[in-house]
Amino acid sequence: MTQTPLIRVEGVSFGYTVNQSTTIPVLKDVSFQVNPGEYLAIIGHNGSGKSTLSKHLNGILTPQSGDVWVGEYNTRDRAQRKAIRQKVGMVFQHPDNQIVGTIVEDDVAFGLENIGVPAEEMKERIDYALNAVGMEKFRKRPPHHLSGGQKQRIAIAGIIAMMPQVLVLDEATSMLDTYGRHDILTVVDSLHEKGMAIVTVTHHMTEVTKADRVIVMEKGEIVMEGTPRDVFLRQKELGELHLDVPDASKIAALINQSFPAFAPNVITKSELIDEVKRVGTGVVHS
Ligand SMILES: Nc1ncnc2c1ncn2[C@@H]1O[C@H](COP(=O)(O)OP(=O)(O)O)[C@@H](O)[C@H]1O
Ligand SMILES: [Mg+2]
Repeated sequence: MTQTPLIRVEGVSFGYTVNQSTTIPVLKDVSFQVNPGEYLAIIGHNGSGKSTLSKHLNGILTPQSGDVWVGEYNTRDRAQRKAIRQKVGMVFQHPDNQIVGTIVEDDVAFGLENIGVPAEEMKERIDYALNAVGMEKFRKRPPHHLSGGQKQRIAIAGIIAMMPQVLVLDEATSMLDTYGRHDILTVVDSLHEKGMAIVTVTHHMTEVTKADRVIVMEKGEIVMEGTPRDVFLRQKELGELHLDVPDASKIAALINQSFPAFAPNVITKSELIDEVKRVGTGVVHS
């Protein structure tokens, strides 16, 4: 069965214009799709073009050549901008820059007011969104007193309230401490379980292991694409791109060098332990 993609990125090239004349090329002929319900991770060294690419997914930036389609809408079509932003929600790195309301519920309501959702439905959607991120108790609070993780949850609530098909997270956990990160990942996992497609740009390789598919960017191009298991097996190539692999993958690869029976394509701690148990039962102790 072929699925209709939610987003199609087709041969996109883009550069930033500086000094009104010089264009610095950033994206070079990038093509990929985001499918319904999938969890896609985008990784790459700093400056490889991940944020520029993310901003193309909901029309914040539009291609210089090539096209981005969100469903049947081309992101160049200004008349469809609202519809596109409704289908594809984005959360950025800095929680402070995303808060617009002076109390939490107003902040969540902002996008809904923009698209003219009626008051009664607005209330229902705000309830639902704040509940989904576990922030209903903070409804009447001023957001600037909240922690970074809580602010990111409010930013996500504002997006969930719009009922998008795709949630794009551009290093949304990178400013947060371990607890804040864990909170956000739990919220994202539950949204994914409910069927929302997730596109996450991240430096945390443990986050990547949750994805169905990984895209690796280098100098504005997609240089690798596959399941986390297949991509993390290519440790040497990733190293050349200044990219890490999960600790479990490193350990498995090391053991595999001396004990080929030990599977190298391990990506999580629990898989590593299972592999130790599996292989360990066959080891002869001296
Ligand atoms: N607003 C901008 N104006 C000019 N150059 C930019 C701008 N934003 C990003 N760049 C440049 O584009 C390249 C890609 O940046 P970016 O998409 O932010 O990469 P990443 O998110 O992978 O770190 C970098 O060389 C960066 O310096
Ligand atoms: Mg970036």
